[in-house]
Amino acid sequence: MSDIESMTSDWLSRIEGAADLGALEAERVAALGKQGAVTQLLKTLGGMTPEQRQAEGPRIHGLREKVSDAIAARKAALEAAELDRRLATETLDMTLPISTGAQGSVHPVSQVMDELAEIFADLGFSVATGPEIEDDWRNFTALNIPESHPARAMHDTFYFGEDKAKDGKRMLLRTHTSPVQIRTMTSQEPPIYIIAPGRTYRSDSDATHTPMFHQVEGLVIDKGIHLGHLKWTLETFLKAYFERDDIVLRLRPSYFPFTEPSVEVDVGFTMQNGRRVLGGSDGWMELLGSGMVHPRVIAACGLDPNVWQGFAFGCGIDRLAMLKYGMDDLRAFFDADLRWLRHYGFRSLDVPTLSGGVGA
Ligand code: DAH
Repeated sequence: MSDIESMTSDWLSRIEGAADLGALEAERVAALGKQGAVTQLLKTLGGMTPEQRQAEGPRIHGLREKVSDAIAARKAALEAAELDRRLATETLDMTLPISTGAQGSVHPVSQVMDELAEIFADLGFSVATGPEIEDDWRNFTALNIPESHPARAMHDTFYFGEDKAKDGKRMLLRTHTSPVQIRTMTSQEPPIYIIAPGRTYRSDSDATHTPMFHQVEGLVIDKGIHLGHLKWTLETFLKAYFERDDIVLRLRPSYFPFTEPSVEVDVGFTMQNGRRVLGGSDGWMELLGSGMVHPRVIAACGLDPNVWQGFAFGCGIDRLAMLKYGMDDLRAFFDADLRWLRHYGFRSLDVPTLSGGVGA
């Protein structure tokens, strides 16, 4: 066997033995690369006599051709084997049933409602509910907001048509959870200790207002209730909710038709790295409205205001969620964007408990 013939069979068996694409590339460089053995052999043609070149030329070129054909064939075989391997391992059986694992998450508003129920249950409050389509009397009149009252204009109410009128008054989407106060006082004997979380509606939309939003109402009706009970209850609630002992409240005189006296409650914050963090009292932000239930509201519900007194408060739940969990645009709450829901949602087993931490 001549040198060229033995070289050819040598290279062909090396190429055939390359176990993967990396090894094959190493053989290609060793044979056909700039410094490769076959390339070096081709270079020797330049130094040959014409006769030698005529004899050796076709043999050396033949060697180069066989080597490069063998490399191409081996490459195709290795690529086909790799594709077969992937097809065998990366299968997707379209006939299998879909995953039954938990897919959804608990919306922050639902989570906060659960947290509120847990905190107030510990203080002896139960949860009351009312319909979102409400009548004029319970949403306004019984709450000491008569027809001519300017507070009605402030509520940006969604009204139903005349065909849905009751006692000559159109039905409406409740503008606050306060009508649940009326429903509870007219259906239950005092003493009353309730919170009423739920959906409320006003024709309003910007970064901090959506046409549908959530409120929680609180109502206590008992004997000998005074403003001190209100302040203690709110302080206890907010310390438990924000899970901080340094929550400071500021009560400011205010006005609501259904309370007398009325107080607006601010909560103190401190600045940390340019962000407002609740606790301390470097600054104040408005959090909720409250007051002693107006004697006229108690009387409208058929109770004697000389016997029964109480306090009430109303607070935005979405705002409570934003302050605790750090969202800054209310509209995103109701966009149903899966990425937002996955980021801010809670696992279904994250049930708030006072012992485990309500914000667990
Ligand atoms: N209903 C009021 C509103 O939506 C909030 C409110 C203020 C509720 C004071 C109360 C209260 O019970 O005492 O603006």
